[in-house]
Amino acid sequence: MSFEYEIMKAAVADAEEILTLQYAAYQSEAEIYNNGSAQPLIQTLEETIGEFKECTVLKAVCDGRIIGSVRAAEQDDGSIYIGKLMVLPGCQNKGVGKRLLQTIENRFPNKRYWLITGHKSEKNLNLYEKHGYTRFKIEEAAPGLNLICLEKQWGADLPSKVDKIHTTPMGANRIKHNLNLQTDDVVAWCKDAVKQADIIIRQGKNWYVYKSGTVITINVRSYTIITAHKINAKVRGMHESDYECLPEFLYQAIFVPRSVEPPPRSIVHEPEIFVYIKDFGTQPGDLGVVAEQNGQVIGAAWTRIIPAHGYVDSETPELAISILPEFRGYGIGTKLMKKLLKVLRENGYKQTSLSVQKDNPAVRLYQRLGYEMSGASLDHAGHEDYLMIKRL
Ligand SMILES: CC(C)(COP(=O)(O)OP(=O)(O)OC[C@H]1O[C@@H](n2cnc3c(N)ncnc32)[C@H](O)[C@@H]1OP(=O)(O)O)[C@@H](O)C(=O)NCCC(=O)NCCS
Repeated sequence: MSFEYEIMKAAVADAEEILTLQYAAYQSEAEIYNNGSAQPLIQTLEETIGEFKECTVLKAVCDGRIIGSVRAAEQDDGSIYIGKLMVLPGCQNKGVGKRLLQTIENRFPNKRYWLITGHKSEKNLNLYEKHGYTRFKIEEAAPGLNLICLEKQWGADLPSKVDKIHTTPMGANRIKHNLNLQTDDVVAWCKDAVKQADIIIRQGKNWYVYKSGTVITINVRSYTIITAHKINAKVRGMHESDYECLPEFLYQAIFVPRSVEPPPRSIVHEPEIFVYIKDFGTQPGDLGVVAEQNGQVIGAAWTRIIPAHGYVDSETPELAISILPEFRGYGIGTKLMKKLLKVLRENGYKQTSLSVQKDNPAVRLYQRLGYEMSGASLDHAGHEDYLMIKRL
């Protein structure tokens, strides 16, 4: 069996295969705890199907066979509970679990994630802790079985430990040079950045502190500043596993003027909005790119030929784009758009369109990239929209 696999959203039709995988994958847990009747081992197909309705379920598929899966459900407090991370015994220790975890987190960017595992499940604990999770609660579930709750939270407790931050003279020189700093007290500068950070992300053994377009890398255990430099997001083609992020980026693409309350997330499921991502990847013109910073997808741009506000004709894909709020205004959108325009050209398209609210500052970005005004109309909510076209 070759070891190429894809991670994608699972459908209810996959429930039976995933449940079979679950029984196989959880055997090792049954042995550790000498308990064959743990919930994952006795869950019924009906219950599994029920979970599909409440959770986002991902599957890892290799040669047409499901070799791994994970589930996540957004809680009332906005946190993301991750459960049933499983990999087929013969495919374990090859990075599939880590990728499943990373993909499901990317599906819900910038959240608090939490999960639960047994105290003797050392391999699981190792995977989660290596991936930035920390223990926050232990509960006795049964005699001889403690459940350990782990969490990973952006921006967690680094600001309160700011006094521990330090670096070497070499590190300070490198940072001063990278950021062209005028001060010699690089550590004090970094401490201020931590206190005022736009966002702090813990990933693996590092904290990544983002402040005004710079990223400072700090080791989680030693609090040593490893490096600091300008944001340098990598732009790449969109993979099938990235489709999971589309609802979030579609939500972020909705223009919200400063004085207006953001709409609920469920708005993306309204048919006239959902059309931008429904079954993405199945139609001609479905092309996309994403921006990644330190392993985290922070922006996406994609096109579709759909009967939406930016529709011109059946040969003209319409563009949608967004960057997570903390990463806007640092050139990432421009980079994404340039790459997507190149991909469109390579795919033989002669022009691309978009629809943008008249007051959205993005209009300037589109004009700079050569989009021209082609008309104006009112969108479904009664806002004035520009139809813009760029010849390729
Ligand atoms: C529009 C957007 C994708 C641009 O990406 P970016 O990385 O911020 O853009 P860049 O740094 O490459 O370019 C800066 C330009 O982006 C636009 N921009 C920057 N911040 C923005 C924001 N918060 N909202 C909307 N547009 C913004 C402006 O046109 C800006 O040009 P200006 O400096 O002349 O005002 C991004 O800001 C975003 O996600 N905005 C919210 C979603 C959105 O409006 N999507 C477009 C729907 S049609």
